[in-house]
Amino acid sequence: MEAIVKRLVDDVKDDLVFPKVALKAMKMIDDESTTAYDLADIIAYDPYLASSLLRIANSPFYGFSRKVENLYEAISLLGFEEVRKNIVTFTMKSMFRKADAYDRYIWEHSLGVAVSAPMFKDCVVCDLPLSTLYLMGLLHDMGKIVLKKLDYNGYMQILRKCYADNVWCAELEKETFGFTHADVGGALLEFWGLPREIVDVVVFHHGGSENEAVKLVRCCDALVNALGIGRPSPLGDVEGVVEMWDCKKISEKSSVEEKIKERVRAIEGAL
Ligand SMILES: [Fe+2]
Ligand SMILES: [Fe+2]
Repeated sequence: MEAIVKRLVDDVKDDLVFPKVALKAMKMIDDESTTAYDLADIIAYDPYLASSLLRIANSPFYGFSRKVENLYEAISLLGFEEVRKNIVTFTMKSMFRKADAYDRYIWEHSLGVAVSAPMFKDCVVCDLPLSTLYLMGLLHDMGKIVLKKLDYNGYMQILRKCYADNVWCAELEKETFGFTHADVGGALLEFWGLPREIVDVVVFHHGGSENEAVKLVRCCDALVNALGIGRPSPLGDVEGVVEMWDCKKISEKSSVEEKIKERVRAIEGAL
């Protein structure tokens, strides 16, 4: 199966390109000696990332009291963690073109899991930065975009069925292709050179292996589905998530739902 998945990724790698500048910036953020000037110099090479970062720094989402004039100021005010989150969110936004209702569902669902993972961090034992948890959530279903690119009609059928019958897409994918969006998503992220801990969460979010970060994303995935965020109707119920995950915060269903929806709306509005 591994060879098939690698070949499939080979077929889409020219369509789904993770910008070199974004990758370089992410590596620089992990390096403690990097300064805001260094990061600004690199991001300036990518006009889309640079203008998007300036726009969001000036948006009501951050609400800075003065106009942010340049990339250096934006990076200094936002901090490296927010810059990391934003550059990947901009990149993903351009890949999830939101051409049809399913793209919109997948995008909203991914944002829902992205904002939930840092929110419920205390329910697992995990010392990864909040921005990494956000990225794990944002990228966990990237494989669905890959499958849609590879076999548009075939995958649309699966998506239609999974939303109409309210079942997990991974089950239908496994029956149809013999692999899932988790497999192809993980392979693409690995090809891009994203950090191992993010790749592993993407590969294992529907099973196979578990560490605390995988557990966090898997449970947030189930929660966001149970709340009906990013899908036409809820999949499962919150009580079921509470049963599988001993996390007190999620039993406060209505406040949790409102918080997640509010954060998704705020990010969408700022992009
Ligand atoms: Fe998934
Ligand atoms: Fe998901």
